[in-house]
Amino acid sequence: MLPALAPTNTKDMFHTVEDILQPTEARERFRKHFLAAPVEEEGQKWSELWDNRDFLPWDKGVASPALVDLLATKQDHEFFVAHDNQTGKKKRALVPGCGRGYDVLLLAEHGYDTVGVDISATAIVDAKAWVDVQLDKMEASGVAVPKGKIELVAGDFFNNDWIESLGIEVQGGFDIIYDYAFLVALNPSLRTKVAARMAQLLAPQTGLLVALEYPLFRPSSTGGPPHGIKSEDYEQLFGKKFEKKMHYKPDRTHKVGEGSDMVSVWKRQPAKMQAPLEN
Ligand SMILES: C[S@@+](CC[C@H](N)C(=O)[O-])C[C@H]1O[C@@H](n2cnc3c(N)ncnc32)[C@H](O)[C@@H]1O
Repeated sequence: MLPALAPTNTKDMFHTVEDILQPTEARERFRKHFLAAPVEEEGQKWSELWDNRDFLPWDKGVASPALVDLLATKQDHEFFVAHDNQTGKKKRALVPGCGRGYDVLLLAEHGYDTVGVDISATAIVDAKAWVDVQLDKMEASGVAVPKGKIELVAGDFFNNDWIESLGIEVQGGFDIIYDYAFLVALNPSLRTKVAARMAQLLAPQTGLLVALEYPLFRPSSTGGPPHGIKSEDYEQLFGKKFEKKMHYKPDRTHKVGEGSDMVSVWKRQPAKMQAPLEN
């Protein structure tokens, strides 16, 4: 297990459901930050928060406990083996909206060559610094360094430039995507586009989407980010192009989602079973 990075903004952090549902000072500040921004400027609004570095209420400082536990069971699920059984080639993972990269390092520790992308260049600078510190600590304490390669890149999830700059195929270039607080960070009007993009990036037939469903406790009428979502919404977004392989309530998750978070695991359907891609 990695040592926790103490978040810099513990006072403002969204620790509990109440911190998100009640109009606390931090909640109001966060809500207002995005309130008047047109959808196409929301990326810029995230970047402003990262650039100021003093108000990052979503930043937990650690990898998702639910993903830690899921990957610990990978021997029970053939599709989580981090290499191709026939060729031995390592699989490639993607964490969209990776922030400081906690989940990126976790996936690399499990053997995936892992890419973290964030629209904020500052987030990526911070992520690289955090990962470097963790790698030094691991080496110094004799903990095995990650088997997977780590690549952290600034870019817009919807654009191809960052993928091409890494020499990765846009169509089906990734074997696994982990979504925590990315789908719901974006304006709900973009959800269909996010789902279509994830389907495009994942390897047909084998690609896996692991979604930490959050915040299920939040009515969508209360705004965001994070924007409220329901398990049925995941079904609607992914059910046509993916086959649902797992759906469960994790024993452990970030405190704010305890008791409500769900994990779903979706596998890309064979081409003949797919509905046509929107967008
Ligand atoms: C709620 S944060 C979650 C960060 C990270 N997953 C974590 O758990 O700490 C959402 C992240 O998505 C990033 N983001 C927003 N729009 C993006 C886009 N279009 N492409 C890539 N990243 C984006 C933001 O900069 C922010 O870091």
